[in-house]
Amino acid sequence: MQLYFDNAATSYPKPDSVVAAMASYQTECGASPGRGAYNSAKHATSILDSCRQLLCDLVCAPSVDHCILTLNCTDALNLAIIGVAKHFVSKGEDVHIVTTAMDHNSVLRPLHELESMGVRHTIVPADPKTGIVSPAAIQQAITDTTRLVVVAHGSNVTGTIQDIETIGAVCGDIPFLVDAAQTMGHYPIHVERMNIAMLAFPGHKGLLGPLGTGGLILRPGIEHIVSPLRTGGTGSMSEYPVQPSTMPDKYEPGSHNMPGIAGLVASLEWITEEGIQNLHAREQALCSAFIDLVDTEHATIAGPKKEHRCGVFSLRFENDPLEVAEQLAEEFGIQARAGLHCAPFAHDTIDTSQFGGTVRVSFGPFHKIEDITYLANTLNTLSAKVLT
Ligand SMILES: Cc1ncc(COP(=O)(O)O)c(C=O)c1O
Repeated sequence: MQLYFDNAATSYPKPDSVVAAMASYQTECGASPGRGAYNSAKHATSILDSCRQLLCDLVCAPSVDHCILTLNCTDALNLAIIGVAKHFVSKGEDVHIVTTAMDHNSVLRPLHELESMGVRHTIVPADPKTGIVSPAAIQQAITDTTRLVVVAHGSNVTGTIQDIETIGAVCGDIPFLVDAAQTMGHYPIHVERMNIAMLAFPGHKGLLGPLGTGGLILRPGIEHIVSPLRTGGTGSMSEYPVQPSTMPDKYEPGSHNMPGIAGLVASLEWITEEGIQNLHAREQALCSAFIDLVDTEHATIAGPKKEHRCGVFSLRFENDPLEVAEQLAEEFGIQARAGLHCAPFAHDTIDTSQFGGTVRVSFGPFHKIEDITYLANTLNTLSAKVLT
């Protein structure tokens, strides 16, 4: 038996309809959207349109033309962060960006890269026990030249959920970029109510679509301060040498990953049918059961207990986490992820960098309570031997 507990990296399994939709696109359609007047190209365009519509509906976003499809969440975050910085730098203006210690390298590395262009950033610390970042601390970090605030909604290390509604409110007129890599598809998000200017997300994690999908939803108007990072063919305005400024073509040069997008449409339909609130409630029930079952006398679960969390758990072991993950896989058929999880400051926050990180387990919508019980019992057996 193999049990997959690495849904924070990418979700597995997917709904059956995802593979069926990918196969059907490839065998029955195969065309590129917006590139032809024939029926299959029109059909491909309708798949693309449905994808944007379903994504917008999920988070109450007002404009499908402002839903940009990307390769993954990293791609979306790069577009948002570097795009804003590039816009202001090109006008000779100072740029300062605020983020948090719980954020991922897909935010931290673009910010590091931007330092060479004179773009400064502040990393707001988080509470070492819970990983929660105080909205007041974000407010204090904002300066006259702050052009963007970037926050990971859910931590991919501790599962901590940040209060993005209050953070959105403290951002006021400063564009707020939310990294929803660990929440999109199973956590309610309302871009207008939360004052989110840009929402970056993967299609292949909680949205249950294939690898190679993701997106960035923009508030209409924000595109005027986000420079495109790539230029090229869009199938539109081909007579002009410049990238079109119309949406979504401004940010979508080149052919789309249509098999992936067809699969994503199927997973979005599945999610819509199940209901975000129901998926969220199921995830919370699994989290609660796991916390009750793990023997916390021996096992150290980093991050929040039952509140303010999603189904991502980091466990601290005295042994090398990689060895523990190997033992889990080889002896117990449990697939978990060891190490720093591309979020080094999150591990500094919970003081696990010195141990080489943690062993992370992350839940998906197809886990049953028996799977969680088996996982917890196995960890308890192991922890009696090796946990602090
Ligand atoms: C919080 C967070 N942000 C961004 C990413 C990057 O997502 P992707 O793998 O889709 O590029 C991840 C991936 O694990 C993540 O956990």
